Amino acid sequence: MANNCAIIGGSGSPRLPFFVLGREPDADKSALARYQLFIANYQLPAMSQYLIPTYARQPVAFVRGEGVWLYDENDHKYMDAISGIGVCNLGHCHPAVTRTLAEQARQLVHTSNLYRIPAQESLAQRLCELSGMANVFFSNSGAEANEAAIKIARLYGSRKQITCPTVVVMEGSFHGRTMATLSATANAKVQEGFAPLLDGFVRVPFNDLAAVEALAENRDIVAVLVEPVQGEGGIHIPADDYLAGLRALCDRNDWLLMLDEIQSGNGRTGDYFACLGANVTPDVLTTAKGLGNGFPIGACLVAGKAEGVFGPGNHGSTYGGNPLGCATALTVVNALTDDVIDGVADKGAWLKDAFTQAFSDLPMVTEIRQRGLMLGIQLDRPCPELVNRARDAGLLINVTAGSVVRLLPPLVINQTEMQHLVDTLSALIHRFADEQEVA
Ligand SMILES: Cc1ncc(COP(=O)(O)O)c(C=O)c1O
Repeated sequence: MANNCAIIGGSGSPRLPFFVLGREPDADKSALARYQLFIANYQLPAMSQYLIPTYARQPVAFVRGEGVWLYDENDHKYMDAISGIGVCNLGHCHPAVTRTLAEQARQLVHTSNLYRIPAQESLAQRLCELSGMANVFFSNSGAEANEAAIKIARLYGSRKQITCPTVVVMEGSFHGRTMATLSATANAKVQEGFAPLLDGFVRVPFNDLAAVEALAENRDIVAVLVEPVQGEGGIHIPADDYLAGLRALCDRNDWLLMLDEIQSGNGRTGDYFACLGANVTPDVLTTAKGLGNGFPIGACLVAGKAEGVFGPGNHGSTYGGNPLGCATALTVVNALTDDVIDGVADKGAWLKDAFTQAFSDLPMVTEIRQRGLMLGIQLDRPCPELVNRARDAGLLINVTAGSVVRLLPPLVINQTEMQHLVDTLSALIHRFADEQEVA
């Protein structure tokens, strides 16, 4: 039993325990029935001793999802206003995505990059057409997409005979947990204990063009890496001319402009990529999260000065861009662009207005930041306990940077669901404020 519990408790999305997986080709139905039976009798134990405890997990396991809703093993329903951390932009178990996953899994899962992969070529073409980029390297996660970007920057520099190629990164940034990306990340907690960090990064304040310009004399600089909207850092939105200003500085200094759109991409801000809204084409664009709607896939797109930097043997991944991932992501991209993204800007603006009204009498809420369906409600004090309270009220949210309620709801959220989100969260934050006053 302990092993099976570990399987359920240990996954962001539920996986079938091995004993319910059918072997026969048409065993899906009975496997599902056995799984449902397993879930009906399933008791969530204390956290599994078999998992390395890297996550502060919440004591709940979800067993199915539909649209913006997740259901736990007791069939309690929760609104997912964080979308698996900005991943399920099309909602949970989008029918077209589920169909593609099932059909492609039946046909072919993996071959490796030793061979051509037609779905990978189609997905790359689609992403390039959407973004104005030239070509793509596929990875399995956001951090790996950024690893590729950092390697491109170093290779670009080394070809210019720069011995210590250096990337400009921002305060408040988050780029991942691998050694290179955590070195680029501006979070002491993420870096603590992992010294020596990688050399080759210089940090400046976010949204400060003058600070970047001041580095023009530094001959080691090869690139600027920035999130168009900072997500983990607390939903920070730069001035409208910031990306264009960085583009101009990069052009003037022969630096690569590298945009981390792992969280802001795939429709999240109301454009397919946030840089499109700013009319800026970077040299490197990384994305992941919403690209697979839950299937792990990332991408590093290049154009301009970064085109042609990577050649045969410079980089690789066994799984990256495999047939299952690419067929799934292609369906995701088509579903997002068909009819979902158009509504995102209006939905986000409606939510911002509704929250602004709901909190107009609450000085504890000091600011509401929003771009598309990335929302940050800034409180004047730490509020991590809101996560548990919201979950008890059937709402999944996230608190980041200690005092920012971060909302990344599925882009398919409808009007009734948005109203439910506003009503539930504003009641919770009002109650939290009342208690703080009494205390
Ligand atoms: C902007 C940004 N970059 C990179 C990452 C890392 O992505 P992953 O967790 O898929 O490695 C994240 C994850 O939150 C992110 O938000």
